[in-house]
Amino acid sequence: MEKYLINPNQKISKINKDIYGHFAEHLGRCIYEGIYVGEDSKIPNVNGMRCDVVNALKEMGIPVLRWPGGCFADEYHWKDGIGPKKDRKKMVNTNWGGVVEDNSFGTHEYFELCRQLGCDTYINGNVGSGSVEEMNEWVEYMTFDGISPMAELRKKNGHEKPWKVKYFGVGNESWGCGGNMDPEYYGCLYKRYNTFVRDYDSNNRIMRIACGPNVDDYHWTKEVMDKVKNHAHGISLHYYTLPTGKWEHKGSSVNFDLNEYNSTICKAYRMEELITNHLAVMDCMNPQKRVKLIVDEWGTWYDVEPGTNPGFLYQLNTMRDAIVAGLTLNIFNKHADRIMMANIAQTVNVLQSVILTEGEKMVLTPTYHIFKMYRDHQENTLIGSYLTTDEIESKQDKKSFPQLVESASVDENGVIYSTITNTSASRSSKIKCQIADTKVKSIKAEILTGDIHDKNDFENCEYIKTVAFTDFRKLSDGFTALIPPCSVVKFVINDEAM
Ligand code: AHR
Repeated sequence: MEKYLINPNQKISKINKDIYGHFAEHLGRCIYEGIYVGEDSKIPNVNGMRCDVVNALKEMGIPVLRWPGGCFADEYHWKDGIGPKKDRKKMVNTNWGGVVEDNSFGTHEYFELCRQLGCDTYINGNVGSGSVEEMNEWVEYMTFDGISPMAELRKKNGHEKPWKVKYFGVGNESWGCGGNMDPEYYGCLYKRYNTFVRDYDSNNRIMRIACGPNVDDYHWTKEVMDKVKNHAHGISLHYYTLPTGKWEHKGSSVNFDLNEYNSTICKAYRMEELITNHLAVMDCMNPQKRVKLIVDEWGTWYDVEPGTNPGFLYQLNTMRDAIVAGLTLNIFNKHADRIMMANIAQTVNVLQSVILTEGEKMVLTPTYHIFKMYRDHQENTLIGSYLTTDEIESKQDKKSFPQLVESASVDENGVIYSTITNTSASRSSKIKCQIADTKVKSIKAEILTGDIHDKNDFENCEYIKTVAFTDFRKLSDGFTALIPPCSVVKFVINDEAM
C-alpha cells in the first residue's frame, strides 16, 4: 500500500492557467483544415474557424494559444498575412512539406480565433529572417491605440481597436531552425530586438519570452540568461519525447511493444530533471528568480502516419500519450512557482494533438481528455503532496521512472483536487491518502484508462473517454483507492468545514 499525504496548509504557489496552453503552427493540417477552413467551407464555421474544433477547445479550457510557429515563425513576414485575402502573397512553406502557404490565416484571423476561444495570445516574432523594424511595426500594428502608420493600417484593414498581446516570443529555436546562432550572439540580438517590442498600452504590458534551450543545453540557458538579465519575463525550453531517442527512426504512434512504451514514459519523465536543472542554472544567474521558465514546445514525436506527407507531422494518439500528458502536467503543476506557461505541440493534426480531423469529422484524442480533466487545476493553489511509489525500469534507457506521479491543488472554496497518473502498463497500485487537518465530507472521482494501445479514431471516436471512478473508500481524513494500470484519476475532495 502506497502512502499519500496531502497538506492543504502548505500553500506553495498559484498554478498559472497558461501551463495548460497550446501551440498552433502553420504546419501540415493544424491551422489550415484543422482550425481554419475559410468562410466558404461547407464545414460549419464562424468567420472561417470550424465550430466543432472551437467548441471542443473551449470545453477543454484552452487558456492560451501560441502562433504562428515554431520554425515557421522565423520565416514569417506578418505583412504578407493582412489586407484583402485575394492580394495576400502566396509563398512556399519551406520548413513543412514545401506546400503553398496562401497567407489566408494571418494576424486578424489569429486574434479572431482567440476571441472565439476566449483565450489569451502568445505571438512568436521573427528574429531569424526578419528585421527589427518589422517586429517593431507588428507590435505597433497589434497594440497601438493612437495615430501612427501601423495603427492606421490596422484600421484600414477593418480593426479599429488594438488587440491584447499577452506574450511575445523574440525568435524561436534560434539555436536551430531560427538561425543556428550561438547563445552569446542570440543573447545580444534578443536585447536589440526586444528594445523595440514596445509597450504602447499601460494595460497591456507584454510578457517577453527569450528563446531558451533545446533539451539539456545548459550552456545555452546560462549564456542567454547572462545577456538577457531582467529584460525577459520568461525563457523557453523545448523538449520532445521520442520513444527511440533517434530522429531518423522515432517509432510508430500506434505499433509499439512494452519496452517502447516504458521507454516513452521514461523519456517523458525526463521533463522533471530538465526543469530542475534549467531552473538551477537560471537561479544562479538570476537569484531574484524574476525570469520564469516557459515550456513552449513539449509532447510526443513519432514517425508520421504511413502514407502521409512526412513534412506534416501527422501522428495518432493512444493511452500512451494520455499517460505522457498526465504525468507531464503533474510535473508542471509541481513547479508552478517557476513555470509560467507551457504549450503542448500541437493543437490539431500535428504531433501530440488534442484533436484530429478528417474532412468534416473530428476526433478528441486521449490527450484531449487529460487536458479537460486537469482544467480544474487552472488558477488553483498548488498544495503540498507526497506519494510513495514503486519504480518501473525502462530496459532501453537503463533507467527507472516512478509508477505514480501526482499533484494536488486547492481552489478558492477550499475544494481539493488531486490528479494521479499510474504509468504502469499492467500493475494497479493501492494507495492510502491522508489529508492534513481535514475532515472529509465527500469525494468524487473520475478516470481515463485503457490498454496502452487504445485510442479514439474516426470509426470509434468515443472508445476512450473519462468515466466516473468508484474504486475508492472515503475515510474521515482521506481515502483508500486502487489505481488501475495505465490510468489517470482525478479526486475532488470536499471538507466538512466548507
Ligand atoms: O513543433 C514542430 C517543430 O518543432 C517546431 O516548428 C519547432 O520549433 C520544433 O523544432
